[in-house]
Amino acid sequence: MTGSAPGELWWRGGVCYQVYVRSFADSDGDGVGDLPGVTARLPYLVSLGVDAVWLTPFYPSPMADGGYDVADYRGVDPAFGTLADFDALVADAHRLGLRVVCDLVPNHTSDRHPWFREALAAPPGSPARRRYVFRPVDDHDPDRPPNDWRSAFGGSAWRRVPSPDGWPDEWYLHLFSPEQPDLNWDNPQLRAEFRKIVRCWLDRGVDGLCIDMAHALFKHPDMVDAGAGQHIEFRRNHLMPFFDQPGVHGLYRQWRTMVDAVPGERALIGEVCLFDADRQARYVRPDELHQAFTFELLECDWFAPALRDTIGRTLEAYRRVGARPAWVLNSHDATRTVTRYGSGGGGPRAARARAAALLMLALPGAAYVYQGEELGLPQVDLPDEALRDPIWERSGRTVRGRDGSRVPIPWTADGETYAFSPDGADPPWLPQPDGWGAWSVQRQTADPASTLALYRAAIRLRRKVGENIGAAELTWWDAGPDVVAFRRGDGFGCAVNTGGGAVPLTGVGRVLLASVPAEPAGGALLLPPDAAVWFIPA
Ligand code: NOJ
Repeated sequence: MTGSAPGELWWRGGVCYQVYVRSFADSDGDGVGDLPGVTARLPYLVSLGVDAVWLTPFYPSPMADGGYDVADYRGVDPAFGTLADFDALVADAHRLGLRVVCDLVPNHTSDRHPWFREALAAPPGSPARRRYVFRPVDDHDPDRPPNDWRSAFGGSAWRRVPSPDGWPDEWYLHLFSPEQPDLNWDNPQLRAEFRKIVRCWLDRGVDGLCIDMAHALFKHPDMVDAGAGQHIEFRRNHLMPFFDQPGVHGLYRQWRTMVDAVPGERALIGEVCLFDADRQARYVRPDELHQAFTFELLECDWFAPALRDTIGRTLEAYRRVGARPAWVLNSHDATRTVTRYGSGGGGPRAARARAAALLMLALPGAAYVYQGEELGLPQVDLPDEALRDPIWERSGRTVRGRDGSRVPIPWTADGETYAFSPDGADPPWLPQPDGWGAWSVQRQTADPASTLALYRAAIRLRRKVGENIGAAELTWWDAGPDVVAFRRGDGFGCAVNTGGGAVPLTGVGRVLLASVPAEPAGGALLLPPDAAVWFIPA
């Protein structure tokens, strides 16, 4: 249940806090969060009780996709600080007992990366072009791209570019925006280059690397059409000829050997979104990645039978390969739980999001908490002119995109930016809505019934309980169709009511924590709708 269980490796059962660097804390007043801002707020993460912090990309980038368009894999973008700032962050985190995980974006570079500039300046078939996925233009039909693949952000996944010196035009592949050309992982030189990049961050002291689009690196050798059913929302794009090709597994075996040879418990974490628990689990076989995000919970409706089914299938698939899930409820790509669940009640104490948190934190495996989730932040409905996500323009302004989950954090109840930036700073890169201070860390720290107080208590308790039950598997407990209930060993139980009415729960000894006030009376505990409880079974 927790990284502190005896003999447990930190990544197997720990809680990792995702920092979206641009929106966490701005130290220099340019309206953009930065690494020194994160360092200054590390004590907050310690007070939350998490084991690790994952930083989204801070590398030099033109920011066509929030930094997931990397122009230099070894540096820090000036907007986020310097390499010295990064080293200071890692040193401070380690002093405070926190692990540090960085993003690695190997599926694509920025179109400003020197490799891509070199490729555009070189003729078709050249080594520089072979770093990427270029294909010839068909003379008979020069406007028809090589296949029907769609960009996850809308439109074709191919862009036609001129070649130098009178050579014919070529197409290049971009599964995301045109500013993110896909790399060619069939190229051994590219693989060698990335081994050095991985090594460089391990040498700088990072505890883990989170591999962006880990299932997408290799493409079908014949580049066959994907057919109908491709979805603009990249999270649902599964079992496509550009995903889950066999080559990835060999690559991760090699990386695993390399990473395990480095002292310290370093981890390779995959952003694998396949929505097929068995295929997903193949990425975390004992000689592959240490961990892969488990997005199943994030995609599941607030409906007990679906939750039980999802959790059961996922645990079983991971168990078969000897691994454990890394549950995720929120991320910088998803609508926040408070809004997604329609969250019974709304406001800083939205009921369903609180109950879901207790569910996730009670499950076997690791858990990821996305910044602001612990504050119960809702998705923000931003004005059109504020939107920065490439999805907005690429979809012809029909899909608003992900900015609403990336609004800068409110630290204090008042002040120009609620202390996201120092006073007198430039406006935050995404506007904070009026009244954002009601969700602030300051306000919630003073309120024992706040969502922040619930997360703090849950993470602390998870560690304590974990010392007793360790990695105990889950045993379902029948508490009626509307309730997701289970035990972990003899010493811990969790029940979540997704139904519309209160449900009596029997067999509850002592309540450890509840998302709403709940105490047993007359031998049963009445669990309100949209509520969760942790307990010691009678
Ligand atoms: C997944 C990241 O989480 C997302 O933000 C990004 O747009 C894509 N990968 C492309 O790198």
